Amino acid sequence: MSTPTQARRLDVTGMVRVARERVVARIREAEVVAAALSAGRNVLLEGPPGTGKTTLLRALADGAGVPLVLVEGNAELTPTRLVGHHDASRVLSEDYRPENFVPGPLTRAMTDGAVLYVEEFNRVPEETMNVLLGVLSEREMHVPRFGRVTARPTFRLVAAMNPFDAVGTARVTPALYDRSCRVAMGYQDEDAELAVVAAATAGPEPLVARAVRSVRITRDHPELRIGSSVRGAIDTVLIAVELATVRGDGADEDSTGLDAALAALTGKVTLADGAARPVEDVVADIWRRAGEELGKA
Ligand SMILES: Nc1ncnc2c1ncn2[C@@H]1O[C@H](COP(=O)(O)OP(=O)(O)OP(=O)(O)O)[C@@H](O)[C@H]1O
Ligand SMILES: [Mg+2]
Repeated sequence: MSTPTQARRLDVTGMVRVARERVVARIREAEVVAAALSAGRNVLLEGPPGTGKTTLLRALADGAGVPLVLVEGNAELTPTRLVGHHDASRVLSEDYRPENFVPGPLTRAMTDGAVLYVEEFNRVPEETMNVLLGVLSEREMHVPRFGRVTARPTFRLVAAMNPFDAVGTARVTPALYDRSCRVAMGYQDEDAELAVVAAATAGPEPLVARAVRSVRITRDHPELRIGSSVRGAIDTVLIAVELATVRGDGADEDSTGLDAALAALTGKVTLADGAARPVEDVVADIWRRAGEELGKA
């Protein structure tokens, strides 16, 4: 017997089709996440910033024809913010009534049968994680002075986490891991990153290649503790193209590319402890090295 709260299968083929159209590579991840969601499972997506987690999930939700409700996880995401609250001024004149309840993202996602996507999940306060844990187990929750909220059959939770976040992923309780499936989204290979940046910028090929090579170098550079995501390469290309217009030179001109890379990357990387020189010098070296490696010297 199926009850209204029970999860129902999603259009797994449609999900993967839309992901293939919109997401570069990531086919295995798209298939596995789609299969897990279709099977009524909840998913933890673990990967560093800029690895396409949100892009993939948007495509999958669209492919399933299910709305996506996006929530930024942080220390201020209290249970009240997530679940909803009664409108204070209306409570004064009308007292507590279901009609003056303002639903939060969790309540909306449950009643709309949406995928609730919580980014930076490891930053969410423990009480809020516990609310979600209850919903995952029961697919319903009781809201004081509002009543019972029942999840529609397509409701799912997807939580994204950055494994390198200073706020550790160890904060997430084993009970939640036990009720979810985990899919790791690491950095993509160079060809995939080239395709991502080319699609996002339509910039000249040599500039795209040098920007991608540069961010890849930042990720295992001894003077950097945290490297840049593909966003750094996208920003470098977009800025260089604009700068070239102002200066009337080519976007892959050395000094124009370097100025763009400095603006795009110095704030995105973090120097290693005890680094002996400013971040600008490190990024300039990386930009030069990327050019040399690609045979520009
Ligand atoms: N595989 C991919 N296909 C298409 N675009 C991608 C891919 N990976 C990254 N991007 C692009 O890179 C940028 C960052 O991607 P996205 O926002 O999906 O990353 P994220 O993993 O959600 O990052 P964060 O952890 O910071 O939220 C976007 O502009 C997105 O379009
Ligand atoms: Mg994201």
